[in-house]
Amino acid sequence: MNRDQLLNELSGFLRIPSVSTLPAHNQDCRAAAEWVAQELRRLGCHDVQFLGSETHPVVWGAGPEVPGAPTLLIYGHYDVQPPDPLAEWTTPPFEPTVRDGRLYARGAADDKGQVFCLLKAIAASPRAPVNFRFLIEGEEEYGSKVLFDLVEREPQRVHADAILVADMSYVAPGWPAVYSTLRGLAYAEITVRTSKTDLHSGEYGGAAPNAHEELARLLTRIKSEDGKINIPGFYGPVQRPSKTERAAWKKLPFKEKDFLNKRVQGKGLVGLKKYSVLERLWALPTFEIHGILGGFTGEGAKTVIPAEATAKISMRLVPNQKLKTVERQLEAALKRFAPKYVTVSVRFLHGADPAQIKLNDPSFKLLDQAFKQVLGRGTVPARAGGSIPVVPALASGGAPVILTGIGLPDDRLHAPNEKLELKQLWDGIEVFRTFYELLGESRRG
Ligand code: BES
Ligand code: MN
Ligand code: MN
Repeated sequence: MNRDQLLNELSGFLRIPSVSTLPAHNQDCRAAAEWVAQELRRLGCHDVQFLGSETHPVVWGAGPEVPGAPTLLIYGHYDVQPPDPLAEWTTPPFEPTVRDGRLYARGAADDKGQVFCLLKAIAASPRAPVNFRFLIEGEEEYGSKVLFDLVEREPQRVHADAILVADMSYVAPGWPAVYSTLRGLAYAEITVRTSKTDLHSGEYGGAAPNAHEELARLLTRIKSEDGKINIPGFYGPVQRPSKTERAAWKKLPFKEKDFLNKRVQGKGLVGLKKYSVLERLWALPTFEIHGILGGFTGEGAKTVIPAEATAKISMRLVPNQKLKTVERQLEAALKRFAPKYVTVSVRFLHGADPAQIKLNDPSFKLLDQAFKQVLGRGTVPARAGGSIPVVPALASGGAPVILTGIGLPDDRLHAPNEKLELKQLWDGIEVFRTFYELLGESRRG
């Protein structure tokens, strides 16, 4: 296929600002769903449907039926994260631009570019004897509720011989990966109230409680400077990776120094110092503050004691932790740590259980072989720090879920100047074309 034409088509997809968390973009999400549906029809899907939502529908498709061939379900998402801060983008987030062999746009790597790759690899292998099915959703970045409900209602949608998810990255350039765990997530708003209304900081200061101060104290009580999370019971079910697994991680092309200097680009790392950085990123839970609202933040100066303050936070969860349990633990800890004169409330916005995948199905070998044929190196087993909420539900039907991807660790997901390297895309199309063909052959004879 002609690369210029492919690039044009992908750019059309990336131009649609399908930000699922912002209601103002509902029409755009719908347009991105239409774009996916049209692609699926072009691939010969006879049965393309929008399921579960008017605005963020799950796009379902079933390719031409090949009797006796294995069924491969392809999962991906057409929604993206908000593009702000806009001023930090070199070129605007929804005007895809190529510079130095890299395609810059919101969604280039997460996940539109990868969905595009999986679909174009099918177009490139028209004779692969595989029964393709598709679940391409539009709410992954906001917790996947629509797809969760769909899988619960219609579990047969995830019946397949394998499920392919390309929404992650290589561990380093030239080092493709397959992931055995994803962290879960619990997203919450914590609100602290200390008085009926805001108060004059001269009249009341020194005797009246301050909501921001109380919130700050609570947050630092929950997670201390050494990186430890002090929610009672929180670490209970957490298991260390085996010695073998930790030893294998040491052989990956990952240098803590490079992680600090080239990726974080900061002056130091934090967290539980007795564990390696990879262990902190892949196998330990987190508590992060995303933003704090309330009080006076406008121009100029106002002398006020704020009555209310809210923090948006989330916790990443690792295998054996349970979303529902962690939510209860957080709420209990906040109530327990808050002084009597403070009212705390928690609102949970969305969440996901962690996922753990056994890498022993034969289809993992086929993906490994496909990467080997195209790149000269097969997949290394790794774990993922990020979350894909619906993966445990996808796995619930018993099919192996193959978590992989064509991104690179420095693609800047969710951040300004997100990019996808074009080499990754062209290689990826070849890799997945090969994978589909190997999968098709694996059933013959
Ligand atoms: N593709 C990412 C997940 C990911 C990122 C996995 C990096 C592995 C490495 C996905 O689109 C994502 O960002 N998920 C959200 C889910 C959340 C909003 C419920 C996440 O992890 O923050
Ligand atoms: Mn993604
Ligand atoms: Mn994402």
